[in-house]
Amino acid sequence: MTEDKITGTLVFTVFTAALSSFQFGYDIGVINAPQEIIITHYRHILGVPLDDRKATDNYVINSTEALPTITYPANSIPAGEETMASAGLITMLWSLSVSSFAVGGMIASFFGGWLGDKLGRIKALMVANILSLTGALLMGFSKLGPSHILIIAGRSISGLYCGLISGLVPMYIGEIAPTTLRGALGTFHQLAIVTGILISQIIGLEFILGNHDLWHIMLGLSAVRALLQFLLLFFCPESPRYLYIKLEEEAKAKKSLKRLRGSDDVTKDINEMKKEKEEASSEQKVSVIQLFTNSSYRQPIIVSLMLHVAQQFSGINGIFYYSTSIFQTAGISQPVYATIGVGAINLVFTVLSVLLVEKAGRRSLFLIGMSGMFFCAIFMSVGLVLLDKFAWMSYVSMTSIFLFVSFFEIGPGPIPWFMVAEFFSQGPRPTALALAAFSNWVCNFIIALCFQYIADFCGPYVFFLFAGVVLAFTLFTFFKVPETKGKSFEEIAAEFRKKSGSAQQPKAAVEMEFLGATETA
Ligand code: GLC
Repeated sequence: MTEDKITGTLVFTVFTAALSSFQFGYDIGVINAPQEIIITHYRHILGVPLDDRKATDNYVINSTEALPTITYPANSIPAGEETMASAGLITMLWSLSVSSFAVGGMIASFFGGWLGDKLGRIKALMVANILSLTGALLMGFSKLGPSHILIIAGRSISGLYCGLISGLVPMYIGEIAPTTLRGALGTFHQLAIVTGILISQIIGLEFILGNHDLWHIMLGLSAVRALLQFLLLFFCPESPRYLYIKLEEEAKAKKSLKRLRGSDDVTKDINEMKKEKEEASSEQKVSVIQLFTNSSYRQPIIVSLMLHVAQQFSGINGIFYYSTSIFQTAGISQPVYATIGVGAINLVFTVLSVLLVEKAGRRSLFLIGMSGMFFCAIFMSVGLVLLDKFAWMSYVSMTSIFLFVSFFEIGPGPIPWFMVAEFFSQGPRPTALALAAFSNWVCNFIIALCFQYIADFCGPYVFFLFAGVVLAFTLFTFFKVPETKGKSFEEIAAEFRKKSGSAQQPKAAVEMEFLGATETA
């Protein structure tokens, strides 16, 4: 038996694949810092004046100290058109600009596995880049046309890309990693996401690209990443599991393994794949409906969906999409730098959770994370409510936001993405994973679309609402979520039966297909 070692090819391949996850994070964070600038641009092209200023005035926009002053000449805004468009329209267009990304993600999240099986992992990633490139170009050139339409379209298409890769990348990395490094390499997906968020926040600084002249370049920059990844993929080996299990091409699988392992002796991997192939053919596939009707899957699928819903409805992406404006409301004088602080803390705590997750249990980390987020959400709102009375409350809000994000990454951030796979055996796993990813994107969309409205409606009390939601999910986790660390599928199934109060034995999986996505593990 050879020791699992990290080879240059493995590092290069994981890096290349994770460039997609990086894009996912970049797209989440990229519209945060330039929000005011783009909104100002929307107002300008649609002829909606700021506040009480008239469109026909030579109007100067300087809504926050963090933003530069911009002067639009009077005749650049069509007189009289201010009646046609309203501030409500601008809020709607902005919410759509943010949330259309998640609509794309929602639709495509079901097809990542299917595309990977149809074309192979490498070609699927290459083809997916067409979406990324198209989205980036639409946004990059959005200043030349009707910007709001081009941005909404561009973000939807980028969302399609991210939906696809949120299934493809973890699958490909999991398939090329040696067994003993699978967990560590698997976390690179989330790590690349948070790195993408941070980089987009840094690039969003006013003196880099977050200004009135260059914001569109920032949105279009993904084109460079797409081209880079497309070229690098030519040098990456195809997944040996795909070649061996799916295509039954043993010779090609061996060749790919030899490159990845940097050794001619790949019998250990081949034996492992043989076993996996036998297991896969002995268990039948399960449909979405069967996940809910079969009593042995019902409880685990409900818990899986709840974990993802909890992750998104905690309001975390309200922070990642809108933190700059939240910090502004909280009276922070340099909101963009505070946003970068959030990104940096997010990265640090993701690394920490990688170290913690195999020591502490998944359930306990999720519970600790959610409970921490509950208290932070309360303090966030208290800070906002009392800001008028005490100026130092802005620091309470800021610290609470930092801690909120830290608690999120300790548990609720990474855990749902891999815990669902631990609840299910080979047969139902692909369908369960596809459904869980879909529910994640649906909730991501709801938050992206509604957060601004909820924030406008609730004012400083907005995070009390999220505190309530987080508390409900914390209680659900406490009563319904079992610990999976170090347990076999049988033990986990027994835990579920105990929690649902049923002594029933698991039924055999019933045959049925659910889309192509179900064909991948
Ligand atoms: C998780 C969430 C994603 C969020 C990210 C923040 O990956 O699924 O929606 O933006 O964490 O780090």
